[in-house]
Amino acid sequence: MCVMRPIQMVDLKGQYAKIREKVDGAIREVIESTAFINGKAVTDFAKNLSSYLGISQVIPCANGTDALQIALMGLDLKPGDEVITPSFTFIATTEVVALLGLKPLFADVDPATFCLDPANDIPEPAGKAQEAYDELALHMQRLVRMRLGELLIGAPA
Ligand SMILES: Cc1ncc(COP(=O)(O)O)c(C=O)c1O
Repeated sequence: MCVMRPIQMVDLKGQYAKIREKVDGAIREVIESTAFINGKAVTDFAKNLSSYLGISQVIPCANGTDALQIALMGLDLKPGDEVITPSFTFIATTEVVALLGLKPLFADVDPATFCLDPANDIPEPAGKAQEAYDELALHMQRLVRMRLGELLIGAPA
């Protein structure tokens, strides 16, 4: 008999299980030192990331959403400016664009890399922002219906 198991889109539990001792030890060290903000763990992380990426300027932040927001705030953008953003991404990518009063403009991703390919299919910014919002609203409605279906009948609708 074939047993079907759901595949996790992001398997954080599986990843954690593989490095549990290292993660637990590092978290314990931070708690015991009470150096929560800009402590040794943060400065070590910045140093390691800087050398891994081969760049001198690194700004550690709390999460990916903050990183996107900080990067956008560093650009000379004005409310209403359009930001080309991948259509296949996590909601945070678009969320920060909207949070800063900017307008997301969706572009298809390259199916081989799942990233934007600046050489292909990047839309013209002017006048498309409203469509991007409409597209996002439709996507969110579908997502909510799917999650409701899962909750009610135990399977994706
Ligand atoms: C493409 C992308 N951007 C942004 C984020 C947001 O990161 P965080 O959840 O750390 O704020 C995620 C999170 O999964 C992501 O996949």
